[in-house]
Amino acid sequence: MSNPTDNRDYSTISPSAKALLYLKGLTSIPFAKAAAEQMMLPDKYEPDFSLRDFGFWTRVVHFESRYWSLDYLLASTGAKNVLELSSGFSFRGLAAVADRADLHYIDTDLPEVIATKKQLLEAIKPELKGTLDVLPLNALDEEAFRKTVDRFPAGEVAIVNEGLLMYLGLTEKEKLCRIIHRILSERGGYWITADIYIKRANRDRLMMNDQLNEFFKQHNIDEQMFESFEEAEEFFNKNGFVVDKEAVPDRDKLTSLTYMLQSATEEQLNDLRSRKRIQTSWRLKIAP
Ligand SMILES: C[S@@+](CC[C@H](N)C(=O)[O-])C[C@H]1O[C@@H](n2cnc3c(N)ncnc32)[C@H](O)[C@@H]1O
Repeated sequence: MSNPTDNRDYSTISPSAKALLYLKGLTSIPFAKAAAEQMMLPDKYEPDFSLRDFGFWTRVVHFESRYWSLDYLLASTGAKNVLELSSGFSFRGLAAVADRADLHYIDTDLPEVIATKKQLLEAIKPELKGTLDVLPLNALDEEAFRKTVDRFPAGEVAIVNEGLLMYLGLTEKEKLCRIIHRILSERGGYWITADIYIKRANRDRLMMNDQLNEFFKQHNIDEQMFESFEEAEEFFNKNGFVVDKEAVPDRDKLTSLTYMLQSATEEQLNDLRSRKRIQTSWRLKIAP
């Protein structure tokens, strides 16, 4: 039977990964600057730290914080098998296996992104202690998903992702839940996702620029976010997961925060403080 996800061209989402890399190049996220420099060749990647644009730096802080939130939730799992979905031009896997000989990390995204990522990796030429596989995977292709997980040695698996669920409609999110649920039921482990975004009418004023607005509209992103954190939790409960742990933001890790604060007026800071959260990161496990 044909599935609503079968004919979708997910590669139209991929340019967002490049845009994120250029933002992350302004932070201390491992390999982000080196990868951004490679990506921009033959032009020079010259991040402008003197830029005083509060909205811009708010976005950088948001994505820097989102990146670290996954590391935070992953650290206490002790997982030795980690699969990252839709990793884009993020090098969490590389950073992790550079330090840990006992880790097998499989870093995945759609084929075109992976082809470019492999070129970036060639240029970065890192030393690895553990095992890193960088492989194409459509996260909604169950058979391919399963084959990818089968590369791991026996034992629990931690599946991580950031920046995917908001591109998926309800049926696609449910399908991803089913795939991950079946895998975790067999192997044990966790699903760590930073994609708990909720709809907010006031998002436009702060986090957005014209380009982002256009991209959001094109991909229907606002409609695909959760109504509330409660609704998000109900969604995961209904799909067989429970929230095991929530990320706690660590301000000390945010190297971009200084620039955001330097760019802010008193009014902007007060406005920011009065806002409710629009995103969180959860570690999910199979419901007992
Ligand atoms: C917003 S980017 C996030 C990249 C990275 N996780 C980050 O935070 O920097 C979204 C990524 O999702 C990938 N993607 C979209 N649909 C996908 C699918 N069905 N399976 C796997 N990856 C997908 C895109 O190629 C893109 O790299």
